[in-house]
Amino acid sequence: MSITAPSPTPLADRTAVPRTWLMCRPDHFTVEYRINPWMHPEAPTDTSLALRQWERLREVYLELGHEVHLIDPVPGLPDMVYAANGGFTLDGVAYAPRFAHAERAGEAPAYADWFARNGFDVVLPEEVNEGEGDFLLVGDTILAGTGFRSSGRSHEEIGRVFGREVVTLELVDPRFYHLDTALAVLDPVAPASGEANIAYLPGAFDERSRQELERRYPDAILVSDADAVWLGLNCISDGRNVIIASRAVGFEQSLRERGYNPIGVDLSELLLGGGGVKCCTLELRR
Ligand code: ARG
Repeated sequence: MSITAPSPTPLADRTAVPRTWLMCRPDHFTVEYRINPWMHPEAPTDTSLALRQWERLREVYLELGHEVHLIDPVPGLPDMVYAANGGFTLDGVAYAPRFAHAERAGEAPAYADWFARNGFDVVLPEEVNEGEGDFLLVGDTILAGTGFRSSGRSHEEIGRVFGREVVTLELVDPRFYHLDTALAVLDPVAPASGEANIAYLPGAFDERSRQELERRYPDAILVSDADAVWLGLNCISDGRNVIIASRAVGFEQSLRERGYNPIGVDLSELLLGGGGVKCCTLELRR
């Protein structure tokens, strides 16, 4: 461990990278089954509140100058709002999902179809994988989560599809069942001053994965359980602005200290389904 604190890049030197996202309006959002510990089908949900909160997130993206595409929500697929699980795109290729739970299986063809109609080469998977929920691109490397949803074999498959290095990370805490609930990519491209950086909750990973993360990202922001339980790590960064759950106040403070500009949003309703900012946002890389 180094004894000097990393000298953070000041906000003035951080530039936002324009990005393109796919989102799905939560017209049919509700919690009617339980496939993660956050979901309580017996508790009421408020679809119109979910819609307003989601609209605000979309507005924030647009106000920051990013591009947002929309996929039509399908009745009977309440989790379709969590677009991050709709696939993983890179170099104009979309690797389609294959959901772990039957309840979400119907989303896979809807997303694959959207990619095909919007100019992506679609690769239909053999292996169980939940898209950007478990695959996060950091620099040229794909960090890949497993343990709850995407299978270890899907890590090999995505490596073959995109020809990139894939680093397997084992998730061990059922509350953080997708990689994007436990780890956030802060720099979509590496800043002039060095490596692309990340933030994560150490306790969400097994020992080997933690060591791998420490070795690769010595300057990572380590986030507390208290921030992670608001799905604070389920955030979106453009390299300058980081859109996060407004209740993750400790993480917000750490981001500020590192020279990022955190922007809080409230997605309390979508948290009832076990998802946050990142879950609602799929990156389109052409
Ligand atoms: N209810 C959804 C599920 O359990 C939430 C998905 C959240 N998505 C994410 N990228 N973490 O599958």
